[in-house]
Amino acid sequence: MKVLVLHGPNLNLLGKREPGIYGNQTLEAINRRLVELGRELGVEVECFQSNHEGELIDKLHSTDAAAVVFNPGAFTHYSYALRDAVASLPIPVVEVHLSNIYAREEFRHRSVIAPVAAGQISGFGAESYLLGLQAAVSLAKKRGERS
Ligand code: DQA
Repeated sequence: MKVLVLHGPNLNLLGKREPGIYGNQTLEAINRRLVELGRELGVEVECFQSNHEGELIDKLHSTDAAAVVFNPGAFTHYSYALRDAVASLPIPVVEVHLSNIYAREEFRHRSVIAPVAAGQISGFGAESYLLGLQAAVSLAKKRGERS
């Protein structure tokens, strides 16, 4: 079973970008930890980052994963195209954010992805991704048992 971890715009800068908000860990370090946790949970983890909305949409359309962990970055707050791509998928998508989007600027309080996601994890730093992976694996396994 495979889980796709999708990182949106500016997340390639993790470690350097506003470390007070997003922490010191690089994206590579987070991805390594996700692959390790995946191994412990018995799933393959594929990680992909893009700064481009269309590339994120193409990746969602073409994935053969059983579930997705998705940090859409700023697209969270306004991309109806990504929302529609998530809604089109037959597999669970877990939305994750490093920061607590509800404790920040008003424009970050709204996620257009949340209503079509299986659930959302926000505010636990890099740990949000690990919690998101656990949730995604658990949802995918439950779906597998049903079918
Ligand atoms: C973010 C929160 C977004 O508001 C922001 O634009 C990001 C990162 C997070 O992980 O906390 O790029 O998704």
